[in-house]
Amino acid sequence: MKKYYITTPIYYVNDKPHIGHAYTTIAADIVARWRRLQGDEVFFLTGTDEHGVKICQSAQIKGMTPKQLCDEMSEYFKQAWKLLNISNDGFIRTTDKQHEETVQLIMQKLYDKGLIYKKRYKGLYCVGCEKFIAEKDLDENGCCPDHKKKPVVQSEENYFFKLSIFNEQLIDIIENPANRNHIEVLPETRRNEILGKLRLGLEDISISRVALDWGIPLPFDKTQTVYVWVDALINYISAVGYKGNKERFEKFWPADIHLMAKDILWFHSVIWPALLIGADIPVHKRVYAHGFFTINGDKMSKSIGNVITPDQLVEKFGVDPTRYLAVSLIPFGPDGDISMNELTKKYNVDLANNLGNLVSRTNKMAEKYFDAKVPQISNEDILTKEVAKILNNGYSVSIENMQFHKTAENLQQAITLINQQIEQDAPWKLAKTDTKKLANCIYSYFQATDLIVLHLIPFMPTISEKIWALNGANGNIIEVAKKYFLDKQIPKEGFSSANNKLGIFEILFPRIEIKK
Ligand code: MSP
Repeated sequence: MKKYYITTPIYYVNDKPHIGHAYTTIAADIVARWRRLQGDEVFFLTGTDEHGVKICQSAQIKGMTPKQLCDEMSEYFKQAWKLLNISNDGFIRTTDKQHEETVQLIMQKLYDKGLIYKKRYKGLYCVGCEKFIAEKDLDENGCCPDHKKKPVVQSEENYFFKLSIFNEQLIDIIENPANRNHIEVLPETRRNEILGKLRLGLEDISISRVALDWGIPLPFDKTQTVYVWVDALINYISAVGYKGNKERFEKFWPADIHLMAKDILWFHSVIWPALLIGADIPVHKRVYAHGFFTINGDKMSKSIGNVITPDQLVEKFGVDPTRYLAVSLIPFGPDGDISMNELTKKYNVDLANNLGNLVSRTNKMAEKYFDAKVPQISNEDILTKEVAKILNNGYSVSIENMQFHKTAENLQQAITLINQQIEQDAPWKLAKTDTKKLANCIYSYFQATDLIVLHLIPFMPTISEKIWALNGANGNIIEVAKKYFLDKQIPKEGFSSANNKLGIFEILFPRIEIKK
């Protein structure tokens, strides 16, 4: 059994989750579910990032202690992921004791190796990003381009990590697949941006704060707390037992993929590997940065205040359609503007009209002509083979490469093929002329749909099971899917087979009016 360790960023708890956070989390969930169907032993981690200036300020505004705010807010994230049927195996909070101890262990190790030193530093700090920002990177109003706020001047005596000495090594681990610490940075355009920046040279980074006591104390100087980003990155190893569970750590680490948006790629492809190399820990294998959901061209964020929440989408579309729509409307990589109207259009076309219609018409025909049972077949089922061909050609490659919109297109192509076949066969005419052929046709619609449903599981786990039951498929859907993906043969048992009773029909995707 292969292991597969996948992570989302851990989200700041200064406010409630929005669909930008949900986007990464749904994408990670789709991959995690897909890997499980491939037979991998998956560890899927998400969580909340709870220290730093930003959380401290939010707590102050709300009249709470930072810990009270974190306890309340991390629950909202847990609830949102439950609502969206996210199958995470771990949920880490950076205020967990185990995590705090791991951070101290790593800090001590880096300090003992002479990779940390003290120096006075003055710079501009963006609280939204929780990082120092160079003057040249500000917008025309002197604000952070992501958060549209002016950074604050910070001048302190801090501890610094010798990032600069890793410069050449970092270029090599990204560029050279033969390096034992090779990281694949994706997509390629962003990899090139990172390499370009690395070639300009690196400066050492400040990794502690004096004035902020809402953080993890440095083990070698308790008057300072660990910089929130260093604290946060270490979550990926503390969650799998770097301290305290050697067996689990060795099983899952290095992570197979860290998923995130482009805003934090630098931390994951430069700072994090340098910290790991410094602490003699192997480096994660892959990072993938997607773009931002934008609303009228602006990044959706708590700081800007143009937020859509997961609940709003679920209320309108339902859970599984929200999962499907979130990743299929825009390519995973570049930025993409979204709107309720575009989401609704896609819902109506892909789900209500194409998939929903297919399930509904096949069920109704079997009800009418075959007493709500899957009919008996006498000829070969060619349609299902054609559908298998389409899926084999497009599905796995696109999902492996995180091109979920292409995976969705591939699924739609397969669904369309069955719908077209139905039009061509005109079963309503066959019912009067050739009932043997009618039985064959309807049987093949069921089998071909079943095959599509196995591929829908990662996107729409609950609706897949519903269609499976409606179609009278009688095997455990997950077990049947695993078997199918292992040997790519339609199993003799488990699919809709002759004489199986159909489930009680319900409309899965009611059409939604588009608001003018
Ligand atoms: N706490 C840090 C991450 C530490 S990971 C060791 C952080 N948190 S965050 O709450 O700001 O979340 C950032 C992540 O949320 C992005 O990388 C992305 O995954 C997701 N998104 C936040 N807004 C988004 C959009 N508008 N669009 C797409 N994804 C977005 O940074």
